Amino acid sequence: MTAVDVYEFSPSQRSYLLDLDRVLGAWFDREGQTRLQDLVRAASGAFPTTVIERLVHLGISYSSPYRDSVLLDDAVPELHPLDFEWHFKAATAERLVEFVAGRGVTLIGLPSIARRLRTAFLLIERNPFVMMRNPDLLTVGQVVVTDVKDALAHDIPPQDLVIFDSPWYLGETLLWLSQAVSMVKAGGELAFSLFPRLLRPGAESETQVLLSYAESLGRVEVHTGALDYETPRFEAEALAASGTPTLNSWRRGDFVTIRVQDPTNSQLPLLATPLARESWRSYRIGRQVVKIRLTAPSTGDAEDLAPIESVSGWRYPSVSMRSSDRGDIDIWTSRNRVAKVSNLSGACQQLEMLQRAGRGARRRLEQSAQRGSQRARVWLDFLHLDDA
Ligand SMILES: C[S@@+](CC[C@H](N)C(=O)[O-])C[C@H]1O[C@@H](n2cnc3c(N)ncnc32)[C@H](O)[C@@H]1O
Repeated sequence: MTAVDVYEFSPSQRSYLLDLDRVLGAWFDREGQTRLQDLVRAASGAFPTTVIERLVHLGISYSSPYRDSVLLDDAVPELHPLDFEWHFKAATAERLVEFVAGRGVTLIGLPSIARRLRTAFLLIERNPFVMMRNPDLLTVGQVVVTDVKDALAHDIPPQDLVIFDSPWYLGETLLWLSQAVSMVKAGGELAFSLFPRLLRPGAESETQVLLSYAESLGRVEVHTGALDYETPRFEAEALAASGTPTLNSWRRGDFVTIRVQDPTNSQLPLLATPLARESWRSYRIGRQVVKIRLTAPSTGDAEDLAPIESVSGWRYPSVSMRSSDRGDIDIWTSRNRVAKVSNLSGACQQLEMLQRAGRGARRRLEQSAQRGSQRARVWLDFLHLDDA
């Protein structure tokens, strides 16, 4: 990897990188450690690929022991980037269960806490695969399958405690916060994950916006770095695609609690718009989740899939909404394979057939490929299916 000088960047990126260099340099001088996972955890949310570029620039060597590359994520069906499925490490989820301490609680986008709770809860979650992964959820709690933006159209009784973990984008977190505050009793507690300050250029000022909105609701406490996440398989694939060692647990968030004095003050500040709601259809093929964009073209071409010009091969080196080629993606797998689709209805038929074949999907494609189907060969190569 070559060193990248900060003067090649825009002023905001430059100040971000200088900040990152300072954090890394200070941590290295203090700790003298070279284990990559520790250096990345010290880097306040900066993506490992960026951290490595800065370490090279700073002349700090690093090591990445094999044990750090062994994935902790074993979710089936697999987690998907379009659902922002970053799960907590077990120890973090268990600490959050202790934090609930038997209180009446509404959880928003928090399946790892819900499946550990032994007392009643209400889970708001838009992703039906969460129920498939945790079939016992309904024996203890209730689940409302909805987008959080529509949650108030459902019967959500006010609770003593509301906790959420939203996608780490300003407008989206503001939306979740304003919805959550409408679900908490006066004098109750609201808690949420806050992204770290070096997540991206501008993240620090975004966290200030969120904290000042939080302060308008009640007394705020910030528990820095209290939330540890497992690296999901899709992110491990993104790291591998960019030549970065796979780190099984580098992401950390802050845990913010608000003792809510005035839940009626839930007016969403018009500071940033929530994420666009795009239409994707999901298929489950064996362990994998494959999503296809419903606005993909249907030109009637025989070939369904084509690589994205800016991506080398099928594997996408990013998990960020900010990537410039993200809008080109029509099909996206839980193993972070992406492609353009030229024939939406043909591709959907293929995915339905593969979903029905389940663990036999690979064999089906191999048989078609042996009979000379070029289309089957492309799908086989793209999907990276497990053996039956
Ligand atoms: C960032 S993950 C948090 C997972 C959490 N750390 C855990 O371990 O349980 C976000 C969760 O919210 C769900 N989700 C994402 N967008 C949503 C939305 N707009 N409405 C409701 N749920 C959503 C995802 O399916 C996912 O389970």
